[in-house]
Amino acid sequence: KTSLIIAPSMLSSDFSRTAEEVESINKSGAQWVHLDVMDGMFVPNITFGPKFIKDLRPHSDLVFDTHLMVNEPERYVAHFAQSGSDYITVHAEASVHLHRTLQMIKDSGCKAGVSLIPSSSVTSILPVLDMVDLILIMTVNPGFGGQSLIPSTLEKISELASIREKKGYDYLISVDGGINLSTVGTIARLGADVAVCGSAFFCEQDRFSFVQAMVEHARV
Ligand code: DX5
Ligand code: ZN
Repeated sequence: KTSLIIAPSMLSSDFSRTAEEVESINKSGAQWVHLDVMDGMFVPNITFGPKFIKDLRPHSDLVFDTHLMVNEPERYVAHFAQSGSDYITVHAEASVHLHRTLQMIKDSGCKAGVSLIPSSSVTSILPVLDMVDLILIMTVNPGFGGQSLIPSTLEKISELASIREKKGYDYLISVDGGINLSTVGTIARLGADVAVCGSAFFCEQDRFSFVQAMVEHARV
């Protein structure tokens, strides 16, 4: 198995210094940039839209991992594809015709991801597992950085890893919320491929050493 992908989340960055903050991700050894889009409806917070991502795009060659926490995300798939997102992840809870929405993402040329909030079970996405590139397990209730991981969400990681093995699927399993040096080992052992990391990354001065330490903790 290849080493854990670290995806620092811009949510915890200083928005008044966006270019410098994304540059610190570029230099940290992380491979992805996680972009949390919130609409104030699906989640009780508002962040940024496609223009922010489009303006950020020339500042990084890393994979742009866009996490849409918005109702009816199908309305915005084309905008986020045009903004330079590589992955577009939508919530199963936010899109009635989830299969169509995921197909729309794939047709736009992006990789398609589906996410589950802590109270949703894997059962609800079984019918789309054969078409997704990524599954994003929320280990906190989405809306804010800096929350503690909810332990009952963890079994979904191993469940998805064993389904992948059994059925020969090839999605990545990403985990988002409360991931830091004390929790990363657990999620890696359960089968996570990607660790989203907001506050733990941005509170560090030495972000390069932090990313190295995260990957190191994931190996044991
Ligand atoms: C939460 C967002 C996360 C957030 C994680 O709603 O989806 O990506 O940035 O932040 P931490 O790592 O601080 O829990
Ligand atoms: Zn996120």
